[in-house]
Amino acid sequence: MSAREDEGMDLDWGDGDYGRTAEVLEPASEIVVELAGVSEGDRVLDVACGTGNATIAAAVRGAGVVGVDLSEGLLGIARGRADAAGLPDVVLRAGDAVDLPVEQGSFDVALSVFGVIFATDADAAVANMLAAVRPGGVIAIASWISRGPICAAGMALRKAFPSDSGTEAFDWTRPEGVRGLLERTGAREIAQSEHELEFRAPSAAEWFDEQQRNHPVWRWAGRQLPAERWAEVRRESVEALRAGSDEPLEFRARSPYVITRAVR
Ligand SMILES: C[S@@+](CC[C@H](N)C(=O)[O-])C[C@H]1O[C@@H](n2cnc3c(N)ncnc32)[C@H](O)[C@@H]1O
Repeated sequence: MSAREDEGMDLDWGDGDYGRTAEVLEPASEIVVELAGVSEGDRVLDVACGTGNATIAAAVRGAGVVGVDLSEGLLGIARGRADAAGLPDVVLRAGDAVDLPVEQGSFDVALSVFGVIFATDADAAVANMLAAVRPGGVIAIASWISRGPICAAGMALRKAFPSDSGTEAFDWTRPEGVRGLLERTGAREIAQSEHELEFRAPSAAEWFDEQQRNHPVWRWAGRQLPAERWAEVRRESVEALRAGSDEPLEFRARSPYVITRAVR
């Protein structure tokens, strides 16, 4: 689901159990925090922090972190995790990436792990991240690359929701496009590195059904479509997942993503 399709729809990321997906995505946050060079005493902003993966990874390194997200429910989970880990220097704030509730130039690092990609205005959201850091500060963004079976399943879902807005959403799945976006905002020293996350389930069908039960995007989509159309989406998705699985007897697939790091 892209930002433009997201616009105006009542997707609540607190619906279902996004935390299950967040556990699978957690290694990406560790790498983003590492590549951003977060160290003790840094002031770090985590945009679209969700349940707090990158927020916590940065706070564990001794940074003071502000996590911002649209979902109060997910912020509550992030709060619980930070408290349980004994990390008092974590502030969690409700807010939108296109209208960040933070002071300009007040951070050393601003990062976003598969989060800012959902903002309705990509240029404004990235410009806000850059403006949030001091001159010489770092921004780092993780975004999916359009390859692999999970992406193919996402495409099957997207096909069921043709955009009628007439406006093309920014395509975050092309690393060169992301580089161009950062160049437009005036970011310097742009560097990109490719990584992979592994997804596993007993079978392709069970991976899909787990999303349908717990992931807010799949749950939302399933509620919008008539049963027959949803059955088609499921069939197409499971076929794509099965075809792209690395293992014949279970579902196991790697999804590529890019981390783009730049300096203000
Ligand atoms: C795929 S999750 C990623 C969460 C987290 N960064 C992680 O790595 O698990 C996307 C997150 O973006 C948040 N989000 C979507 N649109 C947003 C916006 N415009 N401003 C702030 N947060 C947003 C959602 O609430 C959700 O927490």
